[in-house]
Amino acid sequence: MAGADPSDGQWNHSASLFGVTGPRTRTQVAIIGAGPAGLTLGHLLHRSGIDSVILERRDRAYVERRQRAGVLEHGTVDLFRSTGVGDRMDREGLVHHGIHLQFEGERHRIPLTELAGGRSITVYGQHEVVKDLIAARLAAGREICFEADEVSLHDVDSERPCVRYRSEGSAREIECDIIAGCDGSHGVSRAAIPQDAYRVFERTYPFAWLGILAAVPPSLDELIYAHHDRGFALHSMRTPTITRLYVQCAPDDPLDAWPDERVWTELRARLETADGWTLEAGPVLEKGITTMRSAVMEPMQWGRLFVAGDAAHVVPPTGAKGMNLAVSDVRALGAAIAEWYRTGDRAALDVYSRTCLRRVWRAEHFSWWMTSMLHRVPDADAFHHKLQLAQLRYTVESRLAAASLAENYVGYEHA
Ligand code: FAD
Ligand code: DHB
Repeated sequence: MAGADPSDGQWNHSASLFGVTGPRTRTQVAIIGAGPAGLTLGHLLHRSGIDSVILERRDRAYVERRQRAGVLEHGTVDLFRSTGVGDRMDREGLVHHGIHLQFEGERHRIPLTELAGGRSITVYGQHEVVKDLIAARLAAGREICFEADEVSLHDVDSERPCVRYRSEGSAREIECDIIAGCDGSHGVSRAAIPQDAYRVFERTYPFAWLGILAAVPPSLDELIYAHHDRGFALHSMRTPTITRLYVQCAPDDPLDAWPDERVWTELRARLETADGWTLEAGPVLEKGITTMRSAVMEPMQWGRLFVAGDAAHVVPPTGAKGMNLAVSDVRALGAAIAEWYRTGDRAALDVYSRTCLRRVWRAEHFSWWMTSMLHRVPDADAFHHKLQLAQLRYTVESRLAAASLAENYVGYEHA
């Protein structure tokens, strides 16, 4: 691409063009969304000396409190640590070397680290990652515009794309070289691509997760994924004093169908084992329902717009892959953008989508496989149930099958 033109800083002039009443500014990369994808990209670009502006629809307190993922793959941890945002994660994150699969009332440990070449996972809440990245960005003097309304993308197939939005009562515009659409599964970025320029592959599942955060120490120091006749359950955690738990429910269940007592009754029924292990209950701090879907857009780019994270693909949460995929997309995108500014060569940008999609589809398959094996499928016959149990038994008994799970769970690195 000719004319890799590093930003010449901010330019301000008032303009009435397109109804823009506030300042028009310029940056190198406009990033839509301050989730893990947008914030990590902003951080990586800053480290390469590239200017960006992040536009976020919500306020700072909201994004710093939003309860979501909790499991960081080995490579995600390495990236945060090696780029200077891993200090608190290293102090407060919980490094895990195994997980448990449970079925027919028995628990089986998968020794991740032993099976996956010494790699591990770290349990550290997504909202903590978001807090760390926001703090690093503000300390670096880079911009995040919270509560940006009516964000819209323009001229994304030209060399001068721009983003318009409303903030503090005025209509504003940012001209840039590149737009990164990191605005999650309900974002607006994708709408800037003509419908015939991409395809979406998707699947919905006939179940959902009800998640709670409880003020009680975890009942076990590792995660438990439980298959049960009553449905799936997951024991996880956030800190040594806060437990995170999920229970399979119907996608159309209203939240008030799940009073705390019912949640604990179901969690106990699905997680407790015949050998006397019990689940400790405690005050419920938060409760929410998440529906489950697999979806991938191809390609993840059009003109000067590059889509990353949940905006481009979603996975059901069972494999703990969503946030990790978001981070690995922007690792590739950050490197490609830096290469283009440094050398003018856009080869890596041109293959951004192809680079990401290999990993995305591996994670899509793994997440679908874990989901299919562990959930009770409404209306499935007894044969289907027997197949699930056969797959679970094989996974815990065969070292090779367990190693495949472990390799994917800690994060499969393509050759
Ligand atoms: P998001 O986190 O959704 O961020 C997008 C941002 O864009 C948001 O802040 C949003 O407010 C903003 N935005 C949206 N629209 C606009 C707009 N029009 N203008 C400006 N801003 C906008 N993943 C894992 O890796 N491990 C796990 O253990 C895991 N567990 C999960 C458990 C649950 C219950 C759920 C729901 C998800 C889980 N995930 C997990 C998935 C993970 O949370 C997501 O994949 C991750 O949030 C994706 O990050 P993102 O930055 O792409 O998108
Ligand atoms: C958590 C979420 C997941 O989707 C998962 O597979 C494991 C743990 C969590 O929120 O802790």
